Amino acid sequence: MRIIGTGSARPSLTVTNAMLEKFLDTSDEWIVTRTGIHERRVISSERLEDLAAAAAMRAMENAGVTSGQIDFIICSNVVNEYVTPGLGCVIQGMIGATCPTIDINCACTGFIYALDMAEAYLATKDMNNILIVCAEEPARMMNWKDRSSCILFGDAAGAVVVTKGDDLKAIRLSTHCKVEALYQKRRLQPTPFVTKEETDTDGVVMNGQDVFKLAVSSSIRDIDKVLTKAGMTADEIDLYVLHQANVRIIESIRHFVNQDRSKFPFNLDKYGNTSSASIPALLDDLNRANKLKTGEMLLLSAFGAGFTTGACILRWSK
Ligand code: ACO
Repeated sequence: MRIIGTGSARPSLTVTNAMLEKFLDTSDEWIVTRTGIHERRVISSERLEDLAAAAAMRAMENAGVTSGQIDFIICSNVVNEYVTPGLGCVIQGMIGATCPTIDINCACTGFIYALDMAEAYLATKDMNNILIVCAEEPARMMNWKDRSSCILFGDAAGAVVVTKGDDLKAIRLSTHCKVEALYQKRRLQPTPFVTKEETDTDGVVMNGQDVFKLAVSSSIRDIDKVLTKAGMTADEIDLYVLHQANVRIIESIRHFVNQDRSKFPFNLDKYGNTSSASIPALLDDLNRANKLKTGEMLLLSAFGAGFTTGACILRWSK
């Protein structure tokens, strides 16, 4: 497969660390030092599907294809206002597409899983263009009284259009069940038959230090494996486009591959962790700023609740 278009959309409201200081026992200095995040965008008046559709339209425009030319939509999403139907169905209607859609929930790793699915569909089915939309509103999952988690996240949508090609040089997905590190439960409707005890839900529960260690160790392992699979060295990668969760996680990975900081583009200072939207939205920022050159090798790597992880090496040929 090959990426032929990128798009992104973010909410209009910027929430700075100073704004958080007003209702949380925290400080700009603590947040910046521990995470690298200065501000994030948070949904206020928009709906997530508006952002998702806008990102999708921009990716299609960038690719030079119309919604009628999209053969399949893969939507990566953890939470939105609809339990059913899947967000992909809502997006399909908003952009005027008529193809089948599927939703996946692989937390922050969703984009890498979606790329893998797209590669398989393009290779085995009669499809030419697949739209991947990653749309996330983690801000609506947080307990905004929990200073250790709500400061980390922001809302966004990122999208790409992929077509047949041979730019994907290696990919690796993994899942290691470790629910307790990071999860959120939702309360289901009661029935006359439920006898088990049900817990109250109170937003995301996260063991930050466990997630930090899992994130670094699994990303390092994935990166090592995809480099080996592609027969490449770390030096041969032009850009490391990593999941934007914490600047210290990115720095730890950077030290492992021993590469210059200039190879690690980041935007988490402005947007925080936007879950599976983080990598496609960053790709779109780079694409639109002309920072991606034809022939460059990109290494993408992400991790998230599950614990899911994934990495791939992709030649940029747009
Ligand atoms: N402001 C001020 N103090 C705080 C804050 C805050 N926002 N949050 C926590 N603290 C305090 C703690 O209470 C603790 O105080 P204590 O020593 O008196 O008990 C102290 O700061 C240190 O807390 P730690 O948890 O040890 O801080 P740490 O350096 O581990 O940083 C953080 C916490 C930023 C959450 C870090 O562990 C982290 O980034 N983990 C990874 C989280 C992540 O990336 N999650 C998402 C990944 S998966 C996905 O993307 C869906």
